Amino acid sequence: MPTHAATSKATQAYLEQYDAAPEAEKFPLVRHWIDTQPLPFFKELREKRPVFITRACTLLTRFDDVTEALNMPGIFTVAPYGPKMGNGAFLMAHDDDALHTREKSLMQGILNRDDLPQVRTMVAKIAASILQSANGRIEAINDYCRMVPATLVQDYFGLRGIDRRKLIQWSFWNQFDFFYNYPFDLIPAEKSKEITDRHNQASEELAKYIKELIAGRWLLVKAEKGKNVLFAAWYLFQRLLRRLSGRKNDKRLTDDIVTRLLRTSYPDAVDFDIERLGINVGGLLIGAIETTCQAAAQVIEYLLESPEWLAKAQTLAAQSDCAAFDGIVWEALRFVPITPYLIRQTSIDYTIGKGTDHETPIPAKTTILPVTQSAMFDPRAFENPDEFIPGRNWYHYFHFGFGIHECLGKYVGMVMIPEMVRQILLKPGLQAHGGIDYEGGHLPQRYELSWS
Ligand code: HEM
Repeated sequence: MPTHAATSKATQAYLEQYDAAPEAEKFPLVRHWIDTQPLPFFKELREKRPVFITRACTLLTRFDDVTEALNMPGIFTVAPYGPKMGNGAFLMAHDDDALHTREKSLMQGILNRDDLPQVRTMVAKIAASILQSANGRIEAINDYCRMVPATLVQDYFGLRGIDRRKLIQWSFWNQFDFFYNYPFDLIPAEKSKEITDRHNQASEELAKYIKELIAGRWLLVKAEKGKNVLFAAWYLFQRLLRRLSGRKNDKRLTDDIVTRLLRTSYPDAVDFDIERLGINVGGLLIGAIETTCQAAAQVIEYLLESPEWLAKAQTLAAQSDCAAFDGIVWEALRFVPITPYLIRQTSIDYTIGKGTDHETPIPAKTTILPVTQSAMFDPRAFENPDEFIPGRNWYHYFHFGFGIHECLGKYVGMVMIPEMVRQILLKPGLQAHGGIDYEGGHLPQRYELSWS
């Protein structure tokens, strides 16, 4: 569970304790330190044992080794995700192959980056309206941090006709099982099975909903195409008028992502049939809600607990240019990222850090944790890493992953998260009533906030 007490203090001889512990107690100690004191623990690893081999997994803690591994998807594979993602049904469970390249790039094009200014405006409106009706007090995890992305999933992605609480549930159980239910999480077997069962149930409900959504929307798009043929001359005339009046660059959003996907024709040779389209629509929902919620909630908490940066952020929140405000959000997220590591498995024997003094052979089939939070505190890439310095080199952050599996929703997340934080920081007298309650897990569950 993330904790803010976990600042980068002096080295605390973790490795001495680890080496002296009986075999059965070694990995539980590692788990405990990752969960409660990640920064000083990672610091000692970076300095003394940068490639840290344990019975459960191998941790890569230096910036160079993390990027080396994430740049070689055929060797450091996403095999651990496979069984949790319909045995390869979703692109994220594919490494350097045709399906991944094809579907990722199609979806990246459809999520047109030119939409982003309007997406930010949509987020601002959704967030402001939720806060307005909260009347000065809110349980921020369910009613704000999950509700804003769930509403965007409806309004921008186009997953309408369903209670937002259902969307939230489906994203939660998928993310819980995908990222926080592995042997190295040390979850009791019964609890682990319950998470998988809830995930399977959520996937069944989600698949049924997506099928109905796509069928209904497909009919609308077909009807629209028929109408377009009938009125083709009229539409051409309208387009000509728009061009002559200089409105051809009008970038107002006139659709949503599901509709945009259905309006597009994919030749058979592209291999993107209606089933593949539906799976990717499900991926948009799963990816969007729980990640955004956790990032926004943890940044809000971090700032509320850092008076100096809270004051600066509140001043910047009132300005129309968002760049400096957003820089504070991304730097805060370095201290409280949604996860300290990503998850991979080696496909062959491989020697990491070749030619360095920590070069280490790793056998095939080893579970690897590229510890991205540790990489974001590595002085080799981050000057004065323990200091809070907004406006750092964006390309060194790992907030949205790295390499070919870098987040599909990155650019949406890059406007949604800071705008959610901004809207709430604009509330005068904002205060927390206790910290985020994780209910013993990794994902936030409750956080009481009020304002005057
Ligand atoms: C806004 C909507 C979002 C969508 C639709 C989305 C979707 C996805 C997808 C499909 C992938 C897999 C990409 C691949 O394997 O090639 C991915 C990866 C990832 N996403 Fe997102 N995501 C969203 C938001 C976020 C947010 C807000 C965060 C964090 C703040 C985040 C963090 C990540 C990370 C770290 C990865 C890499 C996982 C890995 O390499 O193992 N995502 N996302």
